Amino acid sequence: MSELQKSMDEIVALCKRRGFIYPASEIYGGINGFWDFGPLGTQLKNNIRDLWWRDTVLCPPIGPEGEILSMVGVDTSIIQNPRVWEASGHVGGFNDPMVDCRESKNRYRHDHLQVLRHRSDESIPMFAFLEGEPEPAYRKIKKQHKLSPEEFTAVPLTEIPLSYLERVIGPDTDKKGTLTEPRQFNLMFKTYVGAVQDEDAVAYLRPETAQGIFLNFKSVLDTMRVKVPFGIAQIGRAFRNEVTPRNYIFRSREFEQMEIEWFCQPDQAKKWYDFWCEHRKNWWQAVGLKGANLNLRSHGKEELAHYAKEGCGTFDIEYRFPFSAPGFGELEGVAHRTDFDLRQHQQYSRAKLEYFDPDNQERYFPHVIEPSAGLSRGVLALICEAFTTDPERPSKMFMKFNPRIAPITAGIFPLVNKEGMAEIAEKLYQELRCRYAVQFDVKQTVGKRYARMDEAGTPFCFTVDSQTLQDQTVTVRYRDTTQQERVNIDKVASFLQDHLA
Ligand code: GAP
Repeated sequence: MSELQKSMDEIVALCKRRGFIYPASEIYGGINGFWDFGPLGTQLKNNIRDLWWRDTVLCPPIGPEGEILSMVGVDTSIIQNPRVWEASGHVGGFNDPMVDCRESKNRYRHDHLQVLRHRSDESIPMFAFLEGEPEPAYRKIKKQHKLSPEEFTAVPLTEIPLSYLERVIGPDTDKKGTLTEPRQFNLMFKTYVGAVQDEDAVAYLRPETAQGIFLNFKSVLDTMRVKVPFGIAQIGRAFRNEVTPRNYIFRSREFEQMEIEWFCQPDQAKKWYDFWCEHRKNWWQAVGLKGANLNLRSHGKEELAHYAKEGCGTFDIEYRFPFSAPGFGELEGVAHRTDFDLRQHQQYSRAKLEYFDPDNQERYFPHVIEPSAGLSRGVLALICEAFTTDPERPSKMFMKFNPRIAPITAGIFPLVNKEGMAEIAEKLYQELRCRYAVQFDVKQTVGKRYARMDEAGTPFCFTVDSQTLQDQTVTVRYRDTTQQERVNIDKVASFLQDHLA
């Protein structure tokens, strides 16, 4: 097991043990691609969500010319009229080419498979494996064929001619020729609306929150005092029947997105595209994804989604997750969607969706710059970033969350449960609990309580001890350094306020 894989195993174990993330339906054996957030994970996710909402909608950024941006928020239905997804291109185009294994019955995304091909001997089979997980293929090569993996070279399955599939051994089988040719597979979850379950009642769970924004473009224009350029933001769940959900919550079937559709004049699109790429990268850094683990990547034209092909392109903000290292996994995409969506919805719905510019007396379709972030992926990236080993501590590790997103801001403890210390600590807790996410704990030794707080990523712990009885000071212990100093008990609230600013 590699070091990187090992640390992912430790992260998953910690998330389970400390109530960040649990497998969904665990008591029934789970359900692949679905996860539940526990108490600490929910609070962490809500903190990230609230910061994004605050920095996007309540206190939008300052634009390139020093202007305060105009932004409103919506919360739209998960299920919409099914024609929406025809217009958006999802019914016809939201497909991934899939490869089935007739033997193991597993299904894989064609572009997620690679094969190990012998460098010189064409008669030796090729061994397929899931991107980043070559170990099972190495084992087959060594055990069954007594060969060394060094004799092989890795090639994407998409580059192997279909006629060669007969020679490929699937990732979860020992037999040759069990992989089918790639077939299209629609990623949208289908359901039925109403009592009768026939074709007329088919509807879909939204695969992105973006379309709900385009559907309400006209209503927002008519009801709010907004003028182009302006943005509409939304946070919500999206559903994709991913063929290979994997890497913990990175690729799941139900997840949350934080999306902005920024409507601007077509000739201003490049300026806004550059602005949003820069702004969104800075935002992730400000919430805690610092350093070399954050990467920025422009897509080549061939990789672009159907709506982005004619525009400035797409820019990915990527994070080096332990399972992707040394490579990166996408966290957010900033796309120039042109006027594709508004035009499509006008054509399919026949509603007039052009914007009327009152200054120039002109009617046009605004272009759209879309920063689309994964909230669930953001939680995972911030968990991975926070996980810090420290052999000196009883917990051997701590979670180094930015204090503004930490699920618990402070622990409040009596050193021991005697001499009235518990009462003083509880009074402090009562004073703070409605303003800050504080936790009161009297059980076990204070060392064990600190260790629990280190695992939860609590940046500060305040402890009432015998000196408190004499001079009304408490110790504050800093999570990152484990150092302690004394503050007046009356100053704890302002201490927290200063440290969360
Ligand atoms: N509206 C554009 C859109 O949805 P996307 O690149 O397909 O674009 C945006 O998704 C973000 O949503 C991704 O960068 C990722 O963070 C998140 N995301 C997409 N699929 C996901 C999945 N299966 N599980 C978790 N997050 C996902």
